[in-house]
Amino acid sequence: MVSRAQEASAFDAVARDYDRTFTFTTLGRMLRARVWEHLAEHFKAGERVLDLACGTGEDAVWLAQRGVRVAAADASGAMLDIARAKAAQAGVGGKISFLRASIKQIAHGAVPGRFDGAFSNFGGINTARDLSALVRRLYLDLKPRGKLILVPMSRLCPLEILTFLAGGNIRQALRRQRLNPVAEIRGRKIPIYFPSGRDLRRQTASGFKLLSVESLGFWLPPTDFGHWVDAWPRLFSLVNQFDRATSSMMGASGDHFIFIAERKP
Ligand SMILES: C[S@@+](CC[C@H](N)C(=O)[O-])C[C@H]1O[C@@H](n2cnc3c(N)ncnc32)[C@H](O)[C@@H]1O
Repeated sequence: MVSRAQEASAFDAVARDYDRTFTFTTLGRMLRARVWEHLAEHFKAGERVLDLACGTGEDAVWLAQRGVRVAAADASGAMLDIARAKAAQAGVGGKISFLRASIKQIAHGAVPGRFDGAFSNFGGINTARDLSALVRRLYLDLKPRGKLILVPMSRLCPLEILTFLAGGNIRQALRRQRLNPVAEIRGRKIPIYFPSGRDLRRQTASGFKLLSVESLGFWLPPTDFGHWVDAWPRLFSLVNQFDRATSSMMGASGDHFIFIAERKP
């Protein structure tokens, strides 16, 4: 069993490179812009929103710049250090409260107060062993009609399977289908969970009303192959438009998916 401290230190080790290798890449910006469309629609200035597994704070800073107050939590101290510096540089440090907490601790009530919304972007939620405990806590922590936006890595990413198979890497091709999947981060194996759209629907059904489920990156290269997008940005800008247009049809498949629900009154 890997402890929270071991998990966090694995992410500490990649914190410094995270923005360079994902956030600031063409693909990273493309995908995040798609998520921001939903954050902008559902989270308004003056509201208080919880960012679970906030990483280097890219979303928290963007929301704060739009007047949203953010409680940003992550298990990794190094990720939070970068997020804090980013917030200070953007002049929105006062609008974001940073907290070092794992998803498990949050599920046990580590973040005080009530929220107008909660979200977790780009796989933060895939580290949650007990999603149902988290969903129960979010039901308590969200105000009636508060929005929940989750962007997990999906269980089925056909392009990832094909790409790894083409390279002869069967193990990686089927990494999301394994019985006990792990993410290898700088040589450390971290348990990871791939909730399906049906899992999320089932776990949120009693407390939340489903608003939408859409794919993010069904036709785009999976994030491990983001360098393709840097090499052919115009081509993939068109692919991104097609990906966006077909996202509802593809549902909870692709590299990630966007799940949006509303807390029942
Ligand atoms: C792929 S990054 C996503 C970061 C950010 N949400 C984004 O959009 O860029 C995953 C994040 O989850 C954090 N993390 C990993 N395990 C965690 C856990 N058990 N509880 C809370 N955060 C965790 C990592 O430190 C990392 O910042």
